[in-house]
Amino acid sequence: MPSVSQSIKALQQERREEQATQERRREIARNPKYNRIREQFPDAGPFRRELYPKQMLFFRSGAEYTERCFMAANRVGKTRAGACELTYHLTGKYPPWWEGRRFHHPIEAWAAGSTLETTRDIVQAELLGKLGPGSYTSPGESIGRGTGMLPLAASARCSRVRAAWRTQWIRSTCGMSPEGPASSGSRATSRGAPALRAPENTSSGWMRSAPWTCTWSA
Ligand SMILES: Nc1ncnc2c1ncn2[C@@H]1O[C@H](COP(=O)(O)OP(=O)(O)O)[C@@H](O)[C@H]1O
Ligand SMILES: [Mg+2]
Repeated sequence: MPSVSQSIKALQQERREEQATQERRREIARNPKYNRIREQFPDAGPFRRELYPKQMLFFRSGAEYTERCFMAANRVGKTRAGACELTYHLTGKYPPWWEGRRFHHPIEAWAAGSTLETTRDIVQAELLGKLGPGSYTSPGESIGRGTGMLPLAASARCSRVRAAWRTQWIRSTCGMSPEGPASSGSRATSRGAPALRAPENTSSGWMRSAPWTCTWSA
């Protein structure tokens, strides 16, 4: 049986640890490195969204159409647009200028590429962050995680397969939403066309394969 003073000490220690955790959370929430989504499509500056009319059209069209394809030249921002839109849906935090599809509940979504490698190295990297060297055999939780479009503070937990994070549970402003991606990228058919069938409860998806980005919403 611990003495009264021992119990008080234990409680004080617990309180200090809790405060340190809260402080770390606040730091993460403030750090721009882990909040890249906030810098996307700003009102002003060299990357202001008026310079990206095709992306704006692509986003806006989501309010009307359940399936969209953004086919365009290399390096014009298709992948970035797909990652941003999925991040808005998963976190439930839409920017004030958003005119596209909105979900008012936590959703399940898929993110996929045409091969396992491109899903991991492009789709996953854009959404979650790049894996560091050495992490291909055992992707450390902290290596690069949160440096993609999904803010680290929204990342609750994840499950992994080999060199990929398989399922991510994201804190949405409306609750919790699991976002299951990476391994589905390995399902390419012999003709190279992806054969993907998302489970019925999946509300949204993003599929990236050069030269296009596609999204669907239920
Ligand atoms: N909306 C944007 N704002 C700022 N930079 C962007 C934007 N979209 C793309 N870029 C820049 O262009 C690069 C290529 O974009 P990406 O989405 O990979 O092109 P694509 O998929 O069309 O080949 C990105 O790595 C980024 O540096
Ligand atoms: Mg691309």
